[in-house]
Order: sequence, then structure tokens, then C-alpha cells
Amino acid sequence: MKNQNNNYQFNIEKFYKNYLKGPRIFNNRDALESSYIPEDLPHRDSQIKNIAEKTACALLGDTPPSFLCYGMTGTGKTATIRYVSQKLAQQSSRIKPWWIYINCNVVSTPYRILAHIYNTISRSEKIPPTGLPKDIIFKKLLGLLDSKVGNSICFLVLDEIDILVGKKGGNEILYDLTRLNENLDNCKTSIIGISNKLKFRETLDPRIISSLGEEHIVFPSYDASELRDILTERAKIAFQEGVLKEEVIPLCAALAAKEHGDARKALQLLRKAGELAERAQNKQVTAKHVENAQGDLENDYIIEYIKGMPFQAQLVLTSLYLILKFSPEHIIISGDIYDVYSEIRGLLPGIRQLTKRRISDYINELTLAGIISAEVKSMGHYGRTKIIKLDIEIELLEKCLLEIDKIKIILNHKPVLIQSDKIKLKNNIFKKLV
Ligand SMILES: Nc1ncnc2c1ncn2[C@@H]1O[C@H](COP(=O)(O)OP(=O)(O)OP(=O)(O)O)[C@@H](O)[C@H]1O
Ligand SMILES: [Mg+2]
Repeated sequence: MKNQNNNYQFNIEKFYKNYLKGPRIFNNRDALESSYIPEDLPHRDSQIKNIAEKTACALLGDTPPSFLCYGMTGTGKTATIRYVSQKLAQQSSRIKPWWIYINCNVVSTPYRILAHIYNTISRSEKIPPTGLPKDIIFKKLLGLLDSKVGNSICFLVLDEIDILVGKKGGNEILYDLTRLNENLDNCKTSIIGISNKLKFRETLDPRIISSLGEEHIVFPSYDASELRDILTERAKIAFQEGVLKEEVIPLCAALAAKEHGDARKALQLLRKAGELAERAQNKQVTAKHVENAQGDLENDYIIEYIKGMPFQAQLVLTSLYLILKFSPEHIIISGDIYDVYSEIRGLLPGIRQLTKRRISDYINELTLAGIISAEVKSMGHYGRTKIIKLDIEIELLEKCLLEIDKIKIILNHKPVLIQSDKIKLKNNIFKKLV
């Protein structure tokens, strides 16, 4: 349909009508969300048993040991702890344990962790987001634990605990938390730390290891056949019967198994494949949808990565983009990036000039992230330089850069390096006479 300006206009009413008339793919798509807690966790029996054994004494009001859970990302650590906490709550009629769940990536400073624990238990009197001295909060917290949690157990789950330990004051607060019980009269606490950094234990203060690190539970990565079982269970809830072609689950499982057996990745692939089928109004999800989903997810990852980089690194990448945009065949050396970077930095007010060395560090980081590749070439008499290539589609890079406001405005700037009517001599730009 055309509007007054003769442009085609999206007909949203028609779109919704067609959508409702189209084939049904999902039954309950929330079952593929990572926050969904499934009825069963296949291939996590030994971890569930181990945690159940450690925490069971809480049902009698005794203090369970603190412990750590390790495993790569997507190996079911968070899901298993949440699962066990639910089951334990169902069994406790007399003494109800408390579970305070803290994601140290979100609640990220020692002060905020204490405030979060306090505020979650109290539900009424709030600790302000900043300002109180630590010993005062501690005193208040001890009082609250004894009065409100009483004779019960309070589990403090510190998810992504490695992030806390990497922060200023992190080791100290962890130490204080492991020693809470020494200062409590009624209530008892138990710490459950979760981490996907396998070497994280080595970074802990020895005093903490003695009260936290001695007991630990390992979550090994899933292989393709385990991922298949996990996906099959979730797919039964998430999809309409018969919509998944036979090859879909094995393919999602195999692709995720290649990347260290990440169940989150496998579920995302399955969900995205379903969404692509739905969008195309197909009746079934096929291997083709999975392949396309894989491409989309990789792009999503790249977009997120670039948008999350420091602004200076984004400028380095923009320099590469501008050279390629205006001269796709240009052989780019690190000196080119430096020149264009300096030029565009000058267009933006208040941005500090980076040294060549810092720029070289960013080039290395971008190489490690798989966004560019850099090959060191000997230039004989002139020493060595890096030849830099973009390893992602330039359209994808443009899409990312367009979403960064400060950069969006310089994306049509043609670098002097490329302008054929200008030459550069000792940092001065001259117009060519011929
Ligand atoms: N054994 C399993 N059965 C069913 N679903 C699972 C299983 N293991 C993991 N999952 C699912 O995979 C997703 C990722 O799991 P989870 O969040 O527990 O991983 P994690 O080990 O905590 O990862 P990270 O270290 O990145 O936090 C969740 O949706 C979870 O429900
Ligand atoms: Mg987790």
C-alpha cells in the first residue's frame, strides 16, 4: 500500500491478521527462556544429589556447609541451584529456609551486596544505595538476621562470585560473609558461590578458601547427546506437536556441543529457529531455519560486543570502516588506521588522542574477538607493519556503528587518506595541483 508520499507503508492490521491466521509453531515459548525452571534437569543427577545432601540439614535447623559450584557457561549451575532451592522449600513445613539470590554481575559492589541482602530480608526498612559505613550495615544486618530469619537458615547464593572477588573490597566482604555465623545468636547462614571461571579459586584469599573453597561441585560441559535430551524435554513444552523436523534437535545440539556444550546456546538456537519459521509462516521448523538462526545469533553477539566496547575502541573500528567504505580495495596498514583515527578524533570534541601503542592494543583485542584479522608483514628496509582486514560483513559493522550516536554523525566523512585530490606530507594536508 502506498501513502501520500508514494512510499510503501507497512500494513500493521493486515500483518496481525495474517499472523493469527498463520500456522502455529509455539505452544509455550517461555519454556525456552533461560529463566524458566524445568520440571527435570536431565544429566544433572549427581550435582542435584550432592547439593541436596549438603543442604538437607537445613530442614532440621542445622547449618549446611558453604560451598562453590564451578562449570563453564550454560552448564546448568544457576538452574540446578534454583531447582534444589524450590524442592527444599516444598519439603520444609516447620523450618522454612531463606534463599537470598545475588547476581554479582548486577549487584556489583560490596556495599550494594550488603544493602541487597538487608533490603530483601527486611522488605520494609531500606538501606540507602550509598552512604552508610560498612560496620553499621553489618551490625544492622546481624540484628535483622537474628530477628527476622530467627531459628532458620539463610542461604546466600552469590552467582558469578568471581566478578565480586575481582572488585575492590571483594575478598574482604566475602571473608566477612563467611564469618557471619560467628556473630549470630539465632539464625545461621550458608554461602553458595557460583562461578564459570575454573581458576577462580586460585585468586581467593586463603582465609576464604578454608571456609568456602574446600567443598566444591563441578558442572561438566554437556556433550551433543546430553544436549539432545535437554532440548527434547524442553521442546515438548515449548512447541506444538509435530512442528519440529526430525533433524532440528540433533543439529542444535551438535552446533552447541561444538562450542563447549552450552545448554543456553542450544536453547537459544532452537528458539530462534522456531521464530524464523514462524516469521516465514512455515508449518515446520527445518535444518535451514537452524542454520539461519546460527548466523543471526552470531551477528547478535557481534553487535552486542561492538556496542559494549570502549568508545576509543569503537573509533579505531570506525577508522577501518571509513577506509573500506570509500576505498574497498585499499590495503590497510596499522599506520592508516592511526592516521584516520587521529583525523576523526579531531572531529569530535573532548576526545583524548590515544597513543599508537594503545591503538595497537585495541587492534589486538579486535583480532582476538574475531572482528578483524591482522597479519604482520616485513617491509624490508622500512621495518614491519600489520596488514589489517575486516572479518565481518561491512554491512553488519555499519549497522552497529549507526546505533552509536556520537559515531553516527561521522560515518560519511571521507578520510584524507582516500581523497585522491589531497596529499599528506609530514602531517600537513595539501591539495594536489594536478
Ligand atoms: N540439565 C539441564 N536440563 C534442562 N535445562 C538445562 C539443563 N542445564 C541447563 N539448562 C538450561 O540451560 C540454560 C542455561 O543454564 P544456566 O543458566 O543454569 O547455566 P549456568 O551454568 O548458570 O551458566 P552461566 O555460567 O553462564 O551463568 C537455562 O535455560 C537452563 O534452564
Ligand atoms: Mg548462571
